[in-house]
Amino acid sequence: MGADYILGTHRQELERLRLQHDLWRPLCQAAWGRAGFGLGQRVLDLGAGPGFAALDLARLVGPEGRVLALERSAVYVACGQELAAAAGLGQLELRQHDLLQEPWPRGPRDQPEAGFDRAWCRWLAMFLPDLDPWLQGLEQVITPGGQLLVHEYGHWDSFGLHPHGQAIARFGAACQQSFRAAGGDPDVNRRLPSLLAARGWRIEALQPLPVLGVAGSMAWAWMEDFVAVYGPQLIALGLWSAADQAEAEAEISTSRHDSGSFWMAPTLLELRATRWAP
Ligand SMILES: C[S@@+](CC[C@H](N)C(=O)[O-])C[C@H]1O[C@@H](n2cnc3c(N)ncnc32)[C@H](O)[C@@H]1O
Repeated sequence: MGADYILGTHRQELERLRLQHDLWRPLCQAAWGRAGFGLGQRVLDLGAGPGFAALDLARLVGPEGRVLALERSAVYVACGQELAAAAGLGQLELRQHDLLQEPWPRGPRDQPEAGFDRAWCRWLAMFLPDLDPWLQGLEQVITPGGQLLVHEYGHWDSFGLHPHGQAIARFGAACQQSFRAAGGDPDVNRRLPSLLAARGWRIEALQPLPVLGVAGSMAWAWMEDFVAVYGPQLIALGLWSAADQAEAEAEISTSRHDSGSFWMAPTLLELRATRWAP
């Protein structure tokens, strides 16, 4: 993966991430509730993008808490900083940080900044070619007894538009190929629970979060938007063609007029684990 994020950091992708968070917000909020996120806590957001979830987390921990949102893209960090300032959320710090270069944030005197009660990770681990340094980093900064909450995919093959999405099925396969070619693993949450357990974390919860969208729903808009934004990137990578994209768009139009047609998202897995207390 290059210096930036494989899907790009242009305006269209930023807006896609905003819509994505609007769609997933109720599921996030329920998950944060299950994981006991709350007032006064110190929370780490890993690979925060433009900070849409981090803003919600900052409201959740309140002015007595702290959210440190780490993100590699300077463009996203600047956007998130503007949003945080406009919302008056002084408890939220967005910091440019590449978790591949350095798996943990630094505090004063260059030590790892420790003492986080909770860490939130959504759609970051799937882009990391090597998970071990990152897991080691988490152990440096999450307080013993603190929790890690992960929303990453576990079954990308479930992505599809039914029943008219033959090109969309090929699109899903090309997406997975692109993530793998960049060193990532689209189904990373098949491996993470076992990796954490082997390091002594207690696995508290593991559950699938399926999303389905019929025409006119937010989930439909999100998946249609994904094809529009990522199709050109796949073409640039040589994994897709303009003809494939036109075919996919035609299938989406046909499907829009079939009230029995629906999208399935790649199945997300929620993973919650507690750091061992020595
Ligand atoms: C799909 S977005 C998800 C953003 C956010 N977590 C959310 O759920 O809305 C993935 C983000 O991970 C960031 N990212 C990828 N690799 C990273 C790394 N090594 N260090 C920090 N951020 C990274 C990308 O720049 C991008 O903003």
